[in-house]
Amino acid sequence: MKSIPLVLVVALGGFAFAAGASAPAYGTCSSEVTYIRPASEGLSPEESNWLDSRRPQVVSALKSYLTLAAIPGFNVSAYVSTISANSSAVPVIGQAYSGGGTRAAMGAVGFYQSFDSRYSKSVAAKTGGLSQATTYVAGLSGGCIAIMALAINDFVDVQTLVTGGAFNNSDAPKSAYELLQLKTNAGFNLSIADVMGIAEIFYPAKGVIGPTFSGLFSSAAYTNGSVPLPFLIMAEGIPQGLPGSTSYDGILFPINNATNQTIYEISPIEFGSWQGRAQAFTPTSLLGTPLKAGVPANESKCVTGWDSSAWVLGAAIAAQADWVVIVDTNNTLGIFSRAEPSRKREKLAYPPNETELMAELQVEELGAFLTGDLPGILSLLGNATIQEVGYGLVTNPFLGYGESEVGLQEQATLVLVDAGESGQESPIWPLIQPVRKMDFLLVSDSSGVELSSGWMNGTNLINTAAMAIANNVPFPKLPNVITFLINNYTLAPVFFGCNEPDVPLLLYVADAPYSAYSNATTLVGTGPSEAQIQLLLQNTLDLVSQSNTTWAQCIACGSILRSLERLGQAIPDHCKLCFESHCWQGEMATGTPPFVAPPLLLSPNTTFAEWNATTWQPAFSETGTASNPSAGIPANPNTRAPPSCGPQVGAGHLVTEAALSVSTADTTMDSHAPVIIGLLSANLVVLLGLLALAVMQFVRRGGKTGISESQSAPRYVPVHVRDESTSLNRTEYVEAKRYSDD
Ligand SMILES: *[C@@H]1O[C@H](CO)[C@@H](O)[C@H](O)[C@H]1NC(C)=O
Ligand SMILES: *[C@@H]1O[C@H](CO)[C@@H](O)[C@H](O)[C@H]1NC(C)=O
Ligand SMILES: *[C@@H]1O[C@H](CO)[C@@H](O)[C@H](O)[C@H]1NC(C)=O
Ligand SMILES: *[C@@H]1O[C@H](CO)[C@@H](O)[C@H](O)[C@H]1NC(C)=O
Ligand SMILES: *[C@@H]1O[C@H](CO)[C@@H](O)[C@H](O)[C@H]1NC(C)=O
Ligand SMILES: *[C@@H]1O[C@H](CO)[C@@H](O)[C@H](O)[C@H]1NC(C)=O
Ligand SMILES: *[C@@H]1O[C@H](CO)[C@@H](O)[C@H](O)[C@H]1NC(C)=O
Ligand SMILES: *[C@@H]1O[C@H](CO)[C@@H](O)[C@H](O)[C@H]1NC(C)=O
Ligand SMILES: *[C@@H]1O[C@H](CO)[C@@H](O)[C@H](O)[C@H]1NC(C)=O
Ligand SMILES: *[C@@H]1O[C@H](CO)[C@@H](O)[C@H](O)[C@H]1NC(C)=O
Ligand SMILES: *[C@@H]1O[C@H](CO)[C@@H](O)[C@H](O)[C@H]1NC(C)=O
Ligand SMILES: *[C@@H]1O[C@H](CO)[C@@H](O)[C@H](O)[C@H]1NC(C)=O
Repeated sequence: MKSIPLVLVVALGGFAFAAGASAPAYGTCSSEVTYIRPASEGLSPEESNWLDSRRPQVVSALKSYLTLAAIPGFNVSAYVSTISANSSAVPVIGQAYSGGGTRAAMGAVGFYQSFDSRYSKSVAAKTGGLSQATTYVAGLSGGCIAIMALAINDFVDVQTLVTGGAFNNSDAPKSAYELLQLKTNAGFNLSIADVMGIAEIFYPAKGVIGPTFSGLFSSAAYTNGSVPLPFLIMAEGIPQGLPGSTSYDGILFPINNATNQTIYEISPIEFGSWQGRAQAFTPTSLLGTPLKAGVPANESKCVTGWDSSAWVLGAAIAAQADWVVIVDTNNTLGIFSRAEPSRKREKLAYPPNETELMAELQVEELGAFLTGDLPGILSLLGNATIQEVGYGLVTNPFLGYGESEVGLQEQATLVLVDAGESGQESPIWPLIQPVRKMDFLLVSDSSGVELSSGWMNGTNLINTAAMAIANNVPFPKLPNVITFLINNYTLAPVFFGCNEPDVPLLLYVADAPYSAYSNATTLVGTGPSEAQIQLLLQNTLDLVSQSNTTWAQCIACGSILRSLERLGQAIPDHCKLCFESHCWQGEMATGTPPFVAPPLLLSPNTTFAEWNATTWQPAFSETGTASNPSAGIPANPNTRAPPSCGPQVGAGHLVTEAALSVSTADTTMDSHAPVIIGLLSANLVVLLGLLALAVMQFVRRGGKTGISESQSAPRYVPVHVRDESTSLNRTEYVEAKRYSDD
């Protein structure tokens, strides 16, 4: 055990450690543990056992939910007794929460709440209870903030989280970052994931930074199966010199091909990938352990505690290095198709041309992050370069492991990044793995990255479908972007896959304005306040439920469709009507897609600017629970015209690969807007003088933060230079002044 450098004892003497902060530790390896197992084995024994305890809870939750929804002509008690006696008929339901920063995090908790039996408004809407019947939930980037907030609080109801300050908009106090020092002192490498994770987990974790993600699985809520199993997903950068490596100026980011990604998943049980480079899993509790060919490289060096909830979240939101690429290349590399657009867009005449608008979008906000916060974050990491630490770095457990791809077998460190860099925004991948037998997948897409106005056009979902086809993973057929837009599939919930019994039924819910213009923000730094959060949550409930209990019954139909098919039971007529009018029937629309600028459904004459001035801006300063989240908006039970599903065609005529080739051809790889901007400001700067020293001590001892020797990244830090000819900020690298003690 290395001792704490004296300088730090003195410097940190003034404040106490954050409650529960503990660093990873080395210990003796157990011979009882399976360190790596191949994906080809299917589900882990732990997950299979957990499913056995979850299933009865799902059955009892479904009974309440289906009773509430009251599908006409459907006998709930008969159905429930059938599935109670037949475990393979119990529906497997999943919820996927997209990336998209705070907006997406709020969209995700709003989505969960909209189906929560503990929320009276959801019960009134007859949607409450489906969350209790959900087996798996997954998050990507901003959606991971929601997943972690829920998971580490045993899926407490969302109002308790919100009113308890879980999404408090202030900086975490400096003591929260002492985990960095503990980790450094224990001899472990840091990366940007360590800093970003602490910043984001501090309030949801109520200041208790220490507990591990794997540790959740030993709490009663998990062992008795009363909460869903959470997943976070990540993509990866591949070090230079290995097959598939893509980089700019030494910064790694995923290959620009949506169908050739490796998506890593992490649950409290396991970490790894089903397809792609790893095709194997390692226990989450032992992450960080140096393994060789699937066994410990050193019997006395097994690591526990690496998987702090903070680090896991930090790795899932590690997009910062990608933002540097975007700014440096003027948004031509790094996949994010656009940055936060606010100012520029409004200069164009209305109604504008989407192509022009997208081209007009600039990277100013990302530039502000890079000039404002990134130097401070890197300084916390000992002034390491973004090339060295701008990721979620962890010892590669698949080193030398024969089931993994050859390149990965040679790689010392995994370079995990925000999965939004993969060209997908919804964390669908873990949920559609055939071994998980997904029946009904609900996707909450608040990514807001596809259209200049912050609304969606289906691109990211189509990218996921393309990757599923490339990997032979069953997935519903999807229309192209033009059909999404012409049929209004991004303005109201829509089903895909109704007539394809061998794929999960998908309910796609793209964020859209009902009672609030939820495209108002993607960022953390400038909001939202609690009153604003309540506006966003109400909008999601309005969107999901359509304020229409007939539609709510259609969602209930979705939850049992595959189960009824497996049982060979008749589909209720009401459900058949639902699937006819709310499910894409396989026809492509033709024509020019509309420019997407939907008004508030419940107040169509209120423009964005008016709403911003009269409702959203005032809510910035409101504290406490908003007394009337829809203030100023008449309570009108209108629903938007249901999406057009085109003429019904037989299942055999569904448009398939041809559709996808059209739709993927006219889209680009895309990702989400920045997650954390301006979050780490004043308090962090105060800390730098203290913690940077700790990291320096570590570096002086010979510790390396870099990713692989072959990388030889230049030791430079980004500096922003205003280019007067283009009025844009440009990044230049100047040689970093650092640890030259040799
Ligand atoms: C529903 O099914 C149960 C058998 O499980 C039966 O006793 C009951 O009469 C049925 N109810 C209706 C309304 O058909
Ligand atoms: C797909 O990615 C792998 C790395 O995982 C790389 O070796 C391969 O060249 C890529 N294939 C294509 C067609 O880009
Ligand atoms: C993308 O990767 C797939 C393999 O998944 C490959 O078939 C395809 O050719 C690649 N596309 C490009 C443009 O490299
Ligand atoms: C950046 O891209 C915008 C939009 O395409 C273009 O107008 C501008 O000239 C570019 N700036 C630089 C420095 O390349
Ligand atoms: C939109 O603007 C672009 C660039 O000016 C132009 O090439 C394109 O034809 C326009 N599209 C439409 C539908 O007007
Ligand atoms: C759909 O969104 C993608 C990603 O932003 C964009 O490249 C494409 O132009 C959009 N297409 C339409 C028709 O809106
Ligand atoms: C899509 O929504 C717009 C605006 O609400 C409406 O005018 C249009 O008719 C809808 N299209 C279809 C196909 O329902
Ligand atoms: C409610 O939803 C049903 C089912 O889609 C639809 O037929 C009906 O028109 C909707 N009601 C209203 C008021 O929009
Ligand atoms: C939000 O969407 C509306 C149209 O629905 C648009 O007028 C407004 O400019 C958008 N706001 C932002 C901040 O993108
Ligand atoms: C909205 O505006 C239209 C046209 O300007 C007007 O006819 C209608 O009465 C307005 N509706 C409300 C609720 O103010
Ligand atoms: C919303 O209102 C604020 C305060 O007036 C203003 O600074 C901001 O530009 C507005 N946002 C938009 C997108 O209009
Ligand atoms: C990191 O760089 C900043 C800016 O150059 C400098 O002020 C600070 O002392 C450096 N910190 C370390 C630990 O070298």
